[in-house]
Amino acid sequence: MLSTVLSFRTRSCGFALYGTLVIFLWTIFLPTIAAQTPTVSIDRAPSVTILPSLNVSDPSVILDLPSDTQSLTFNVLSLGINTSIIPEIIVSTASPPTFAISHKALEDTGSGGSPDQGNLVNRNGDTWSLEWNLGYANWTSDGSETISCLVGFNVQANGSVNGLSNENGNVIIEVEVSASGPIRTVTSSFLFLGDTTSNAVLLFSPLLISDPRAQPTYPNYTLPPAQLPLAPPSARSPQGNLNLIIVPTASSPTGDGLDYSLAAIRRANASTGHIAASENMIIDALTQWVNIGDREGYRTMWVVGNLLADTNYTAWAVDDSGVLTRPMWFATKDSSFPCQLALPTDICPSVGYTTPLEANETTTTLPGSDIPVAMPLRSYPENITALLTSSLQSFSTSLKTTACGRDLYSHVSSCADCYAAYRNWLCRAVLPHCAGSASPNPSQDITPQTLTRNSSSPRDNGVPYTYDYDELLPCLNNCDAADRACPAFLVFRCPVRHITGRQSYAFIGEHSKDGGNGDPAVGPAPQSQWGWRWCNG
Ligand SMILES: *[C@@H]1O[C@H](CO)[C@@H](O)[C@H](O)[C@H]1NC(C)=O
Ligand SMILES: *[C@@H]1O[C@H](CO)[C@@H](O)[C@H](O)[C@H]1NC(C)=O
Ligand SMILES: *[C@@H]1O[C@H](CO)[C@@H](O)[C@H](O)[C@H]1NC(C)=O
Ligand SMILES: *[C@@H]1O[C@H](CO)[C@@H](O)[C@H](O)[C@H]1NC(C)=O
Ligand SMILES: *[C@@H]1O[C@H](CO)[C@@H](O)[C@H](O)[C@H]1NC(C)=O
Ligand SMILES: *[C@@H]1O[C@H](CO)[C@@H](O)[C@H](O)[C@H]1NC(C)=O
Ligand SMILES: *[C@@H]1O[C@H](CO)[C@@H](O)[C@H](O)[C@H]1NC(C)=O
Ligand SMILES: *[C@@H]1O[C@H](CO)[C@@H](O)[C@H](O)[C@H]1NC(C)=O
Ligand SMILES: *[C@@H]1O[C@H](CO)[C@@H](O)[C@H](O)[C@H]1NC(C)=O
Ligand SMILES: *[C@@H]1O[C@H](CO)[C@@H](O)[C@H](O)[C@H]1NC(C)=O
Repeated sequence: MLSTVLSFRTRSCGFALYGTLVIFLWTIFLPTIAAQTPTVSIDRAPSVTILPSLNVSDPSVILDLPSDTQSLTFNVLSLGINTSIIPEIIVSTASPPTFAISHKALEDTGSGGSPDQGNLVNRNGDTWSLEWNLGYANWTSDGSETISCLVGFNVQANGSVNGLSNENGNVIIEVEVSASGPIRTVTSSFLFLGDTTSNAVLLFSPLLISDPRAQPTYPNYTLPPAQLPLAPPSARSPQGNLNLIIVPTASSPTGDGLDYSLAAIRRANASTGHIAASENMIIDALTQWVNIGDREGYRTMWVVGNLLADTNYTAWAVDDSGVLTRPMWFATKDSSFPCQLALPTDICPSVGYTTPLEANETTTTLPGSDIPVAMPLRSYPENITALLTSSLQSFSTSLKTTACGRDLYSHVSSCADCYAAYRNWLCRAVLPHCAGSASPNPSQDITPQTLTRNSSSPRDNGVPYTYDYDELLPCLNNCDAADRACPAFLVFRCPVRHITGRQSYAFIGEHSKDGGNGDPAVGPAPQSQWGWRWCNG
């Protein structure tokens, strides 16, 4: 019996066992069972191990874990022909281990599980059945227990494995063992789409540091200048690198429901030619204060080139410690798309999309192509900058005629809010958002609201641009938001829905009473969680 005790002390995973008699038999027949059920020995933590393919002849595997194991993370690296057949993972902290899961499922939020299910697991005393969540499962010990683990198909209550037909299986699982807390986790955040051209994409990281502008206070009520003073990027970069991964959607693990499997994503990254490799970067991981996605703060941005026109892509970011974002999707434009990518600037920190400006004269040549690619715009032509600056300055002057910060014109808005809403409206009106034909959006039933612009039909209040383009109309709400946030004497004349709104603004709904100046919640948000837009706002 000593050997049994010893083997459990070293956290060797056992097979399903019942009572001391079985332990005794198991001890005697250990060589036979071990020969039938492969054991994978993992001798140190942290480490990553690819388990042998699980199939009809080898339907299960026992993990022999290092004694300091604390957390386990599982990724499905690849699935077989029937992608809904995924092995079960049973973890036991019993000594001797039992892999029998009772029918009575108890919730334990302290250990096990996966992000979407709130760590829900079936716990029967000391036995867990891990839940897969889009190719990902994890488990963390809450003490110094003996940890045993079985990975296999159709594990029965008595621990035996059966019922796999010949053509099924061939599933490969990757396991990561950690001696400290959980590693390779999934966050609830997404990359955010700036925009695409026919061969490049502008992507933003999730918000890294939320940093809303401070509200000035009376008596020293100072509005910021037209050009916002931005902290140097390096001063506020968070620690740790974010690595971007882009794969063509046609070859993406999301097609097999493996959205959260970093192992499968890395394999797709390698097999589809490392699209987000540094040699394809036009702008590589620039961290800056921006107002993208209606949130002020620091984000990292990338512009990736060498993409194919009219193609769907899927993208993730992963940090140095293996924390993975959820997938986001984007589509490149067709090869006739004329507009240029503009990065957020200190005048317009909410503009990160394609506009009908002349291309940057500075170009770069990416490997594998001799065609020079225009760099994204980081400033606007002089006359547009002058128009934005003078508009902001005169607006600021008019606004300051009210005793900002002393006489409250509203319980919800300040002069600084009014000025920020005006800046957003102005930038989006002066710098049109080009619309593309391709949409990666099969589920959203709202179609982008666009209008073809040419020199004989420019924007009514806008600026003439030198080439024809399709405009994604600004959201009517940009104007309504400025109207709501500003003192009444500034008289924002927002277009009235169905009367003057149709030509220059996008809106949805029938909020006719006040022309849409009321409820900010009218209509859907201008953009989805991934940054897909139906209007420019
Ligand atoms: C099952 O996978 C093992 C490797 O884990 C392999 O050696 C064996 O040939 C496979 N059997 C079948 C039937 O595919
Ligand atoms: C795949 O496996 C699932 C679960 O065993 C089964 O319900 C389904 O019918 C299988 N699909 C095919 C195409 O064999
Ligand atoms: C385990 O249970 C299954 C059915 O749940 C049964 O078919 C199998 O014979 C049992 N195996 C053992 C070793 O008792
Ligand atoms: C499992 O992963 C999720 C998301 O990555 C994380 O929130 C959770 O804390 C992890 N749980 C355990 C027990 O490791
Ligand atoms: C007023 O506020 C501005 C900006 O916050 C600051 O630069 C300036 O020094 C302040 N002036 C006084 C007199 O406090
Ligand atoms: C994706 O491939 C590129 C190019 O080899 C590599 O630099 C990058 O590290 C890979 N990404 C990940 C997360 O493995
Ligand atoms: C053109 O690109 C270069 C390199 O990124 C940048 O420094 C410059 O500001 C850009 N010019 C304009 C007009 O945006
Ligand atoms: C891209 O995705 C959309 C929406 O799913 C689809 O309609 C379109 O055919 C896809 N395009 C390509 C080139 O696969
Ligand atoms: C310009 O656009 C307007 C409105 O879309 C259209 O009626 C007109 O024919 C266009 N003109 C040219 C030269 O394309
Ligand atoms: C800015 O100058 C360009 C070229 O001189 C011209 O085409 C454009 O209409 C001007 N824009 C404004 C706002 O005046």
